[in-house]
Amino acid sequence: MAVTRRNQNKKTGAGHPGSRDKAKQTGKRYGANAGGQKRRPEPEQRSHRPRKSVDKSSEPVITPENQPDIANIQWFPGHMARTRRKIKESLPLIDAVVEIVDARIPLASRNPELDSLTGRKPRLVILNKADLADEAATRRWIAYFRSRGLAALAVDCKSGRGCNQFQPALRELLHDLLEKWESKGANRTIRAMVVGIPNVGKSSFINRMNRGGKAKVEDRPGVTRMNQWFVTEDGTQLLDTPGVLWPKFEDQNVAMRLAFTGAIKDQVLNLEEMACELLSILRADYTPLLTERYKLTPPLTEDSWILLQEIGRRRGMLVSGGEVDTERAAITVLDEYRGGKLGRITLEWPDKEGDSHG
Ligand code: G4P
Repeated sequence: MAVTRRNQNKKTGAGHPGSRDKAKQTGKRYGANAGGQKRRPEPEQRSHRPRKSVDKSSEPVITPENQPDIANIQWFPGHMARTRRKIKESLPLIDAVVEIVDARIPLASRNPELDSLTGRKPRLVILNKADLADEAATRRWIAYFRSRGLAALAVDCKSGRGCNQFQPALRELLHDLLEKWESKGANRTIRAMVVGIPNVGKSSFINRMNRGGKAKVEDRPGVTRMNQWFVTEDGTQLLDTPGVLWPKFEDQNVAMRLAFTGAIKDQVLNLEEMACELLSILRADYTPLLTERYKLTPPLTEDSWILLQEIGRRRGMLVSGGEVDTERAAITVLDEYRGGKLGRITLEWPDKEGDSHG
């Protein structure tokens, strides 16, 4: 589906934004007219409520002047080049790469160039935010990564759950190297580089692991992170990301998933469109969670725009004339998904994704 920024909805006119493209592609009726329902009002007819800030995560630098479509969000070429160079320069210093991904979107939250950037360095994939992800999916993802020769571990850096498995997993990954050091009598500590796209939890991970307590780790877009070393309880040295890695924005599915999880700032996105897309995924895979949270009666309508209106109505989000404030309903759905209030939900599964982003 085409992801449009908010002000492009004006062109879309009736129906839920983006519905035409989707309907064209799939033959499905996505628009508000489907089922003879009332049309989505023109933006100027809607109530203008102050936009609640849903997320304050890191994201590419976006100003009102350069608001792009998601697909066109790009990191500055100079910034990419600098990150590539810094990672390459750091490789001789490290024994392993610790790649942090979001357990809810373990492929979409990866950097597609990491393989070529880090070459044959042993890699441990950390599926962070496992508390928000579907446990069954996380188990399958771990098997998926392992089957591709990557060590993998699920953690929740918010509570610390699973973090105590990090050292053993790293030592197992580097088993041969540690034996070699031991046979040579070398008194060396493991050094690993922590990498990941913004918002996956790199700072939270380093803060959890850092022996000295909370570390000052900053990850502002457009600002290259300083090469900083942190030391864990058992003496492993962690190199904070030398530069910022970027996801595969040009893939619309990837961009959407990043938006759902809050890795792309909402201000540039159409919230109602996003909520409708999210609802269509949730309806397909997690209907019971949706019905329970919003007190809906199954079977759920296949029209996500109507579903969004139903949710708004259930929550009493009405504006004058009894119409549903769909923007408020959209913010609620997105917020509650991100906060894990709907339950533990994974948006991509290994068997559905195959190797397409791998
Ligand atoms: P980054 O360095 O990769 O950019 O990510 P960072 O650690 O800043 O984490 C981004 C957001 O994700 C933070 O939320 C952080 O608390 C949250 N987070 C990190 N790890 C986990 C986890 O395992 N589980 C859950 N549920 N959340 C996690 P925030 O709202 O941006 O900040 P704050 O309100 O927590 O301060």
